[in-house]
Amino acid sequence: MKYEALSNEEIKHELTVEKKRYDVILKEKLSLDMSRGKPAAEQLDLSMPLLSVLSENTKFPKGPDYRNYGLSDGIPELKQLFGELFGVPSEYVYVGGNSSLNLMYDMISDSMLTGVLSATPWCKLEKKVKFICPVPGYDRHFNICEKLGIEMISVPMNEFGPDMDVVEDLVSSDPMIKGIWCVPRFSNPSGAVYSAEVVSRLAKMKVAASDFRIYYDNSYFVHTLSDDAPELVNIFDIAREAGTEDRIYMFSSTSKITFAGGGVAVVIASPKNIASIKEKMGWKTIGFNKIWQYAHYLYLESVDKIKSIMRAQAEKIRPKFEIVLGALEKNFGDSDLVNWNAPKGGYFICLKCPNGTAKRIWSLCKKAGLTITPAGASHPLHIDDSDSYLRIAPTYPSCEDLSKATDVLMTVIKIAVLEQLAK
Ligand SMILES: Cc1ncc(COP(=O)(O)O)c(C=O)c1O
Repeated sequence: MKYEALSNEEIKHELTVEKKRYDVILKEKLSLDMSRGKPAAEQLDLSMPLLSVLSENTKFPKGPDYRNYGLSDGIPELKQLFGELFGVPSEYVYVGGNSSLNLMYDMISDSMLTGVLSATPWCKLEKKVKFICPVPGYDRHFNICEKLGIEMISVPMNEFGPDMDVVEDLVSSDPMIKGIWCVPRFSNPSGAVYSAEVVSRLAKMKVAASDFRIYYDNSYFVHTLSDDAPELVNIFDIAREAGTEDRIYMFSSTSKITFAGGGVAVVIASPKNIASIKEKMGWKTIGFNKIWQYAHYLYLESVDKIKSIMRAQAEKIRPKFEIVLGALEKNFGDSDLVNWNAPKGGYFICLKCPNGTAKRIWSLCKKAGLTITPAGASHPLHIDDSDSYLRIAPTYPSCEDLSKATDVLMTVIKIAVLEQLAK
């Protein structure tokens, strides 16, 4: 239906119909959750063989004993494997614990307390440190900035990455801008894959702060849903040539390859940065869990095996994206009032509803027993001035629950859109 073309009478009529539908939904007392990008149990089941790759008969490689302290930057086999996956030498890889978000937080708080390489710690600077935050973006990135007192500058996130004209302008003129958040492949939540031009401009742009870093969160690097998903160019290749590779901290983990919160996380960075990360991490831990790192190595084996695991994951996820995208197309395909992305990978669908409706949609969902990510979460300090962005995470519920949840969502969006038109 082309909602914007309805007459006042038709708007009233449609609103009555949808509200009746909503009343029926309320009586069902549903409890559905499409709020967080969590894998479903059937995806986690795929990784159960990981649990049996080790036994009391396991022969660990010769050399340093993985059962003991040591090798604080990770076991060589996994450094090699992640190096191959991300197209860098293994000296660029630091293998940590179970969470990449944890590594991001640690590295930013280290910069705050003790400084990046030889730079002044940010907490000793007279002015507040600032980060560039492409919006819509990942709420937990913005949360780190908020909690550590970093000022966030919102920059529009376009189809192929952040608006680089704005980014270049800002970072070249303000030495207090010390970082930019990036999710370069299948962004959370917009699903964007950064173009070669955007990656190249990020690597080559002039920065006023010598301790500026790109926080390049490559969590969804191998999480493709279709074979024609756009590739991401290797930022390190470009940066090495431009002499800027120290500005990149790349993060990733196997949270959505093996077990969420039960995988292994990595930082990819220049050898100079890795030495500093290793030193600072060494103040906090004597080392991460190398037994689990080795189990991951035995299970993941090779880049080809990782890709085949991800194809199996995609088989489970794809039908869920199809449910939500199909419903959006069916209900709002004719209207320009509701827009969304059809991602080729990652975990999210980003909805752009009419201005002033996102909070209303969220609260109508909540009342109907459907939890979605709160409106505003994709913006710094949870403030989306347009009140229009919503993040939909289809992976966690079963297909049956997801179909129900999607029905509820469609009804609720229609109500909010029609109420807006009726004003
Ligand atoms: C963009 C992004 N980065 C990081 C994470 C968390 O990763 P980890 O489990 O490695 O901490 C998520 C989880 O949803 C995410 O979407």
